[in-house]
Amino acid sequence: MLEKIRRGEKGHTGLLSALNPKWERGIEIKPKRARVIGVFSCKGGVGKTTTVANIGLCLTQYMGDDILAVDANLTAPNLGLHFGEFSPKVTIHDALADELPIEKVVMKCHGLPVLLGSIAYSEEVHLVDLRGHLEPLKSKYKVILIDSAPGIGSEVIAAIKACDEIIIVTNPHIPVVASTLKTFREAERYKIPIVGVIVNKVRGEPFELPIKDVKKALGWPIISVVPEDPKVREATAAGIPVVRYAPQSSAAKEFKKLGEFLIKRLKKG
Ligand SMILES: Nc1ncnc2c1ncn2[C@@H]1O[C@H](COP(=O)(O)OP(=O)(O)OP(=O)(O)O)[C@@H](O)[C@H]1O
Ligand SMILES: [Mg+2]
Repeated sequence: MLEKIRRGEKGHTGLLSALNPKWERGIEIKPKRARVIGVFSCKGGVGKTTTVANIGLCLTQYMGDDILAVDANLTAPNLGLHFGEFSPKVTIHDALADELPIEKVVMKCHGLPVLLGSIAYSEEVHLVDLRGHLEPLKSKYKVILIDSAPGIGSEVIAAIKACDEIIIVTNPHIPVVASTLKTFREAERYKIPIVGVIVNKVRGEPFELPIKDVKKALGWPIISVVPEDPKVREATAAGIPVVRYAPQSSAAKEFKKLGEFLIKRLKKG
């Protein structure tokens, strides 16, 4: 019987539509298989973690518990700080050390499922198979959002290799854009598709690189331009992502637009 249901044989459509009304509309029931999207930038402090915290909260409004945000900045994890979580009881480090199964270290921050790092972790980060460790979680979520460390060291490479696609964050300044190019090179080396670029902390000052020049220099579409907004720093200090702390602020509006863009893109598959 179950085999017939699985094959969708005639005579069972009534039962199938009762089980899942989408069946009637010809939509197949697919098992969850998370799409892993990483946020990267070679330069530190450009706004990677801010982006992950904010788009994580935006996506959870649409997807509920189907999204997980992961702190893959293993040397200096601080995704938790953006949520006001200073000493998580369970961390990704526990899972990487095989002390706890990875499913057991997921917790919730502001309603968003998260995998946080231990701020107290002081060991050197050796080669990590992040992709392998995340594997058991892929059947539990539709999106896994990765916050990466800066640079292009081994933990960043481990995070790049764990991704299905990546978003690159930059600021409109020549040195930042120049080092961002290194991240593009690494993504190309590992053949990881790039969704596009976020230009964050834009003040519109005359010495900044115009957005069209950032686009020309990097050669990829700009998917979001987020202004430098004091509300973001305030929100970080309060441990509440700006989309929730000051939803009407200019930066929050841009992060929300970016969340909507990603949702549309995910729906298109
Ligand atoms: N649009 C913005 N306007 C004002 N401040 C911002 C903006 N985006 C981020 N910030 C601030 O910049 C600081 C660094 O941001 P964040 O921690 O997200 O950078 P990062 O790229 O993750 O840094 P790291 O490479 O060290 O992990 C934070 O204090 C944050 O509040
Ligand atoms: Mg960070």
